[in-house]
Amino acid sequence: MSTRHLGWRTAYEVLALRVTRPEWAFMNYGYAPSVDDAGDLDLPTADEPDRLCINLYERTIGGVSLQDRDVLEVGSGRGGGSSYVARHHRPRSVVGLDFSAAAVRLCRRHRTDPGVPGLRYEHGDAQAMPFPDGSFDAVLNVESSHCYPSVPAFLAEVRRVLRPGGVLLLADFRPTDAVPRLMAELQGSGLVLQDTDDITAHVVAALRRDDTRKRALIGAWLPRLAHPLMRRFAALEGSRGFAAFDSGRTTYLTARLLAPTD
Ligand SMILES: C[S@@+](CC[C@H](N)C(=O)[O-])C[C@H]1O[C@@H](n2cnc3c(N)ncnc32)[C@H](O)[C@@H]1O
Repeated sequence: MSTRHLGWRTAYEVLALRVTRPEWAFMNYGYAPSVDDAGDLDLPTADEPDRLCINLYERTIGGVSLQDRDVLEVGSGRGGGSSYVARHHRPRSVVGLDFSAAAVRLCRRHRTDPGVPGLRYEHGDAQAMPFPDGSFDAVLNVESSHCYPSVPAFLAEVRRVLRPGGVLLLADFRPTDAVPRLMAELQGSGLVLQDTDDITAHVVAALRRDDTRKRALIGAWLPRLAHPLMRRFAALEGSRGFAAFDSGRTTYLTARLLAPTD
């Protein structure tokens, strides 16, 4: 495994272990229609602080109906996305899968709800999923695939666990010069690539909009020693992570792929 993949994965594991606060539900860069506009999604008050992160889920889902579907989220992190989908998209079931055992523990403790049946969390690897063939109608994958040593191995697993005609809804970032490789991996997956979009400008708008709030949370929740690394990791303004998005050196993409029906 490259140090880059290991670095991201370790960072998420350490964060889940060290910051167990239930109110931290999402770990993505967010999506905003523009710098001045956080979007008009109708959200309950409790979800309001996570509006931009939720927008990214909605943008990834892209209007695909998940109603009465069995949904798998790979890389469910702190569970905010799986919980949101279970509460707002009326699926039959949602399983959140994550490599971080600490994140899965956190989700099982804080991100389930007796009023939302069919939502559960499993520990496991995107490249060797603990599910039988043909278990799901939709796989959701938000800002997680950059951690995987082999994206082709992940896509082969997605193809295996999806039912014929099932859908993969993916969003993630790459160094811009690695985007052609990701596109080739998607095209060579045996799934049918239906749509891709470059949403970098909207992610940058979300980063700008959420900067003050995230800066305050890092200050309040993490030890001072971790602040410089976390500012970069969270792509706060002034960090190398932010500059890479803002200058176009990093690109954020969405993609929709279908499992073949024959
Ligand atoms: C940036 S977080 C995104 C979490 C969530 N999707 C969200 O938007 O809040 C990436 C997640 O991918 C998980 N991850 C990394 N490698 C993984 C793997 N091989 N299998 C499953 N999950 C993985 C990490 O543990 C982390 O929780």
